Amino acid sequence: MPTRLPEAQAAVLEAASTDEQTIDDLADATDLPPETVTGAVYDLAERGFLAIEETTTTDVALTEEGDRYRTEGLPELRLYRAAVAAGADRTPQPLGDVLEAADLEGATVDIALSNYARKDYGSIEAGEISADPDRDPSTDAEAAALEAATEGGIDDDTREALVRRDLLTVEEHTTRSVTLTDAGIDALMEGIDRRDGVGQLTPALLTAGDWRDVDFAEYNVEADAETVYGGTIHPLRQTAERVKDVLTGMGFQEMAGPHADSEFWINDCLFMPQDHPARTHWDQFALDVPPATDLPEDLLDRVREAHRNGVGEDGEGYHSPWSEAVARQVDLRGHTTSLSMRYLSGAATDDIDPPARFFSVEKAYRNDTIDATHLLEFFQIEGWVMAEDLSVRDLMGTFTEFYEHFGITDLRFKPTYNPYTEPSFELFGHHPTTGDLIEVGNSGLFRPEVLDPLEVDCDVMAWGLALERLMMLMTGAEDIRDVHGTLVDLAFLRSEEVVY
Ligand code: PHE
Repeated sequence: MPTRLPEAQAAVLEAASTDEQTIDDLADATDLPPETVTGAVYDLAERGFLAIEETTTTDVALTEEGDRYRTEGLPELRLYRAAVAAGADRTPQPLGDVLEAADLEGATVDIALSNYARKDYGSIEAGEISADPDRDPSTDAEAAALEAATEGGIDDDTREALVRRDLLTVEEHTTRSVTLTDAGIDALMEGIDRRDGVGQLTPALLTAGDWRDVDFAEYNVEADAETVYGGTIHPLRQTAERVKDVLTGMGFQEMAGPHADSEFWINDCLFMPQDHPARTHWDQFALDVPPATDLPEDLLDRVREAHRNGVGEDGEGYHSPWSEAVARQVDLRGHTTSLSMRYLSGAATDDIDPPARFFSVEKAYRNDTIDATHLLEFFQIEGWVMAEDLSVRDLMGTFTEFYEHFGITDLRFKPTYNPYTEPSFELFGHHPTTGDLIEVGNSGLFRPEVLDPLEVDCDVMAWGLALERLMMLMTGAEDIRDVHGTLVDLAFLRSEEVVY
């Protein structure tokens, strides 16, 4: 019985032979694009008609820079030879002279110096170079490897070193050679039926009645189908939504406000002294935009007064300069506590009467050094409760209830200092796999120096928690970059389910 094959497979099978051929050979022979031939070859191999042998070859090539060093010599060796010629193998010589003698300049100087040190040809100290008299630059492994690079046969470490220096590129190529099998020969002998069959029933086939006579392609219900990934909500965003649900369920209302805000709302309202390290300690991103003009004047006066002279009978201000220009400077907010200030002051909504609870899950920006627990931006879970007679117990109870929703039941509290809260607590949770204590937030009860200018005359407890850290505790991620930012794994984004 003839074998029915789609057009391309039939052509490839007929062009195949018991002698090895590459995909390109077959593409030439069939006049089909190589991709089509590759697909047909694999389909035919699956049916046993063809055999495929894959060989991987490694191509090593010098980069332009590598080629230049091959003729001119490696910069560090030129430096070494010039140093020895100048007598640096006996007494240290001025580096400038040696560089000049070696004819090194521009970026090549740095390259020469760092590799000179890395390969221990000598040392540079206080502007003078010394050379190790026992070294022989003609046995330098990297120089030899540059010569021999394209012929292969250099050891892996040296090759690695040259690749890292961008002097060498290494590329792997896979070639496939194809041969006809006995089953393929049998199939050819029995004959090939080159018909694709009709894959889709069309209105035209129906109206003309041709559907009665055409050959329909058979469905292969066991064939591997392509996986189609639809769009999905980022797990971090999903977690933010969960947090919003939980806090709303706990009776909180959501706050909103600007990402770029005046230092007044970000810092001054929080009784952060303008000349205090705490103010640079936030290390915020200052924006080159006109100063804020819409600050409430009476609040501005009261905040200035609190900073200068303090609040209450025996209150102490900072007695240090307080400048309105600084307060009007616009920054990216380093925390979302700016929103709490806007709401507590009544500037964002009508005056709020106790008891009241507010929250936000919004981005904050800090000029941190990026590492496993820090990015330049993060989502802060801001919140506060305004009521009569609040205590640290209320704060702890609220956190315990909140984190329980996410399966986190082993919180730790540690006293800390904030210019705007007293007492203040940092919050820690245990990482589910490493067991390390990870800081997840900071909290406290606002001081009179904050509340008095805002004209709030009951207690307010408040906090800022990091959404990413919460997520690390939930997912077991050990690096914040695994949950937020461009390095997040696609498979994680596609499959992660956020539950609570
Ligand atoms: N602003 C603090 C932070 O960013 C969090 C905080 C908010 C602490 C409110 C106390 C009160 O870490």
